[in-house]
This record gives sequence, C-alpha cells and structure tokens, in this order.
Amino acid sequence: MSNLIAKDFPLSTLVSPLLDWYDANARILPWREDPKPYHVWVSEIMLQQTRVEAVKSYYLRFLNALPTIYDLAQAPEQQLLKLWEGLGYYNRVRNLQKAARIIVERYHGELPASYEEIQKLPGIGSYTAGAICSIAFSIPAPAVDGNVLRVISRITGSRKNISRPETKKSLERELLEVIPKDRPGDFNQALMELGATVCLPNGFPDCGNCPVSHLCEACRQNIQMELPVKDGKKERVVEKRTVFLLLKDGKTAIHQRPPKGLLASLWELPNLPGQIAKKEIGEVLSPWGLSVISISSLGKAKHIFTHLEWQMQGYLVEVEEKGELSPFLWKSRTEIERDYPLPAAFLPFWNQQELSLF
Ligand code: ADE
Repeated sequence: MSNLIAKDFPLSTLVSPLLDWYDANARILPWREDPKPYHVWVSEIMLQQTRVEAVKSYYLRFLNALPTIYDLAQAPEQQLLKLWEGLGYYNRVRNLQKAARIIVERYHGELPASYEEIQKLPGIGSYTAGAICSIAFSIPAPAVDGNVLRVISRITGSRKNISRPETKKSLERELLEVIPKDRPGDFNQALMELGATVCLPNGFPDCGNCPVSHLCEACRQNIQMELPVKDGKKERVVEKRTVFLLLKDGKTAIHQRPPKGLLASLWELPNLPGQIAKKEIGEVLSPWGLSVISISSLGKAKHIFTHLEWQMQGYLVEVEEKGELSPFLWKSRTEIERDYPLPAAFLPFWNQQELSLF
C-alpha cells in the first residue's frame, strides 16, 4: 500500500491549527447556515465545477424552487435545466434528480446516513459522500477532491501524481485515521477552505496567511509551485461555428438540441459548423425555409467546454418565412428567458439584443 504522505508526516498535527483557523475564518455561506443533508448535497454538486461566488445565487434559487427532495424528484426536466442554466455540466442536475427519485422510492425521501449507501446514488462519488456525511450527519468520513489533494501534497511535500485514483484512495485512508470525531465536517471544510482561499491552485499560495505554514514541507523547501504533481491537460478540440440570432415579427428562433451528447436537450440559437461569411448567409438559411431581409454582425465569441472549444461568429439576421415552416420555435425574449434553458455558450450573442429589434 503506498502512502501519499511522507511516512514521518503526522497528519494529526494539522487538526488543531486547522480547526482554530476555520473557527476564525470560515466564510459565511448559505449552505453553512442550515446544513441539512439535502442542502449540503445540492451545494456540493453545484460546487464540483463552479466557484463559490457563482454558486451562491443558484443555490438559493434552486432551493427556493425545490425546497425538498420530493420537489426535486417531481420537477419537470425543463424547470431543472432552467434552474441550472449557466452553471454548465448539466448531467449534474439530471443525476441529482435520478438520485432524488431513488431516495423517495427507497429511503422515504431522506438521504441515508451512510457513507457506503450514499455512494450508490447517481452522481455521488466518494468526495460528495464524504462531504454530506461529515457536514450533515457528523460521520467521520474523508472528503478528498482536487483542492484537498493539492493542499495535502504541498503540506507533506508529496510528489505522488494526484491524477491517479490510488493517490486519492490512499489519502482518504490516511485522513480517516485523523478526522476528529467531534468535528468531522468542520475539519473537511477547513481543508477545502484553505484550498479555496489560501493554498490556491493558480499562482503562488498565500503562505503568510496559512495556519499550517510552519508545518508545511513545500513552504520549507520553497517548492509550492511544483506541487501538486498531476497529468498534463488533454488538448481541447477547436471547432468553428456560426450562430444566428434570427428575428421574425419580434420573435427569435430557438431549437432544442438532441437528447444525447453535448448540451443534451437544452435550447440553442440556430448554428452551423464552420465560419460562414455574410454573403453566404442567404444560401445557408434557404433550406430552413427562410429568406433574408437584413444582416448585421454580432462579432466573435469563444466558449470552452471540458474537451472542446467553440470559436463562434454571430449574426443578427432579420428574416421572413418563404412558405415552408422553419424547423424552429419562434418565441419572444421574455418567453425564452422565462421558460427555455439557453446554455452560456450563446449568451455573448443573446445579450446584445438590447439592439431594439426584439
Ligand atoms: N468547495 C466544495 N465544497 C465546499 C465547502 N463545503 N466549503 C468550501 N468550499 C467548498
């Protein structure tokens, strides 16, 4: 069995300075005010790929709309996607609902207070299970994500590759030995908080404000920027696309994406692969049963997905229908903003629509 930490680094020495620091420095966050299992679960799923500041308002709106696991289990998919609009990684919310339905069926609508049982639910891995168990149920369970791996790699001076699942598993085992039984949630959150506010991922960490810098191996050797060791990122595929904001009688065209794949079932502005020149637009809109009245450029925008980058050119095109029906839904701005989840990729064009016409 390989250990993440140097054999002679006692993780137990971190407990007391981390808890004292957390008591004095914990941010006031909405999910910390009332840490019910459902609340902690929703917050941790939102926080998986999104910064705390961005999550706050989504979290409050989500729980206001769906205050219980029963409400989540019954919500129409379009409402869920609308509540998640802009957060990205939409499978997170689909899994949230799948899990809610299982919880209603099998556990009378209450998350089970068990590290093992919770991990069987869709979308809940060892990190989220550990966070829910420790914060909401006071069960001493480790919650190790990329931030915690970074923090501990630096403190212990470990050069183990944190992209390897064994590295995470061994740290989970080691933390389990030292998590304080009386404050497991605070201990886990102290590690997360240190990673989020002091021992930062990009740039030099703020060691002057770290409660354990006197114990930190990376700080002693001045190798903070070399740690953690992880696999290089895969290069993203770049795709050029042309996006159309089509206007007809004060309404604009939207289209529902297929139920599988990128941005599944979300709504989009009509778009085509490649960078289409202004003079070609009449021709490309013709198969959609549309003819052009006027065209103006909405400029360029870029959107980054995990493994894909869209480099987009946008056009605002006033159109009329040539008889055949276009394959789109024509809706007003108010209707779209109220009812149709439009992913963030399209917002740079959408947000230019103060342009009056609409
Ligand atoms: N990141 C993920 N979960 C968190 C939490 N509970 N507190 C602070 N940062 C977090």
